[in-house]
Amino acid sequence: MIHKPSLELPIKQTMIALNRLRDEWMIENIWVSNFTVDQFKEAQSYSDSKIVNNQIEYSLLTRNQWKYAWWIKNMESEIIPYCQKEWIFVTAVRPIERGIFATWFQVIDDLVEKYNKTHAQIAINWLLSKDNLITIPKSSNKERLEENIGAVGRELDAEDVSLLDTTVFVVDE
Ligand SMILES: NC(=O)c1ccc[n+]([C@@H]2O[C@H](COP(=O)([O-])OP(=O)(O)OC[C@H]3O[C@@H](n4cnc5c(N)ncnc54)[C@H](OP(=O)(O)O)[C@@H]3O)[C@@H](O)[C@H]2O)c1
Repeated sequence: MIHKPSLELPIKQTMIALNRLRDEWMIENIWVSNFTVDQFKEAQSYSDSKIVNNQIEYSLLTRNQWKYAWWIKNMESEIIPYCQKEWIFVTAVRPIERGIFATWFQVIDDLVEKYNKTHAQIAINWLLSKDNLITIPKSSNKERLEENIGAVGRELDAEDVSLLDTTVFVVDE
C-alpha cells in the first residue's frame, strides 16, 4: 500500500516497482491510501494489476472534511462513488475517530437504545452499510476489540442509515 501520494517520486516509477513485486509473488495486491480520483486513475494507468483499495479517513465525523490529508475532499460525491462504480474497495480509517465523538450526539444515543448497540458499534455499522466499504477500527483492548467486532450482525434500517447520512456531526477542535 502506498500510504499517500509522493510529492517527490513519480507515481509511474512506484507503480512499475509494485507491479514487479506482484509478478514475483512478493505481494498479492496493490492498495493506495489518501488518493484522489485523479491520482488513483493516474496510478492505475501505470499498473497492469488492478489497484484494489483506496484507504481514506472516513467516518460520521470526517466525511468530506479529512483532517490529515488536506488534498482529499469530496469523499462522498467523488471518491466513494468512483470506487463503487469501478469495484474498488474503500477502507475507512479512524471509523470511530479514536472513540471520542460518538457519545456526544443525541441522534446516536437514540440508535444505541433502538438497536441495543454501543456508540462505536453504530458508527462502524453505518460505515458497513455502504457498498464496497470496509473499515479497520483499532484497539489494543480485548473488550473494545470484541465490542467493535460486535458492530456487525444486525444491519441498520434504511431510514436510520439515511438519518445518519443526512446528519452533520460537528465537534469543536
Ligand atoms: N492510511 C492512513 O493515512 C491512516 C490514517 C489514520 C489511521 N490509519 C489506520 O487506521 C486504523 C485506525 O485508526 P485510529 O487508530 O487512528 O482510529 P480509530 O480506530 O477510529 O480509533 C482508535 C482509538 O479509539 C479507541 N477505541 C477503539 N475502539 C473503541 C471503542 N469501541 N470505544 C471507545 N474507544 C475505542 C482505541 O483505544 P484502545 O486501543 O485503548 O481501545 C484507540 O485510541 C489504524 O490501523 C491506523 O494505522 C491509517
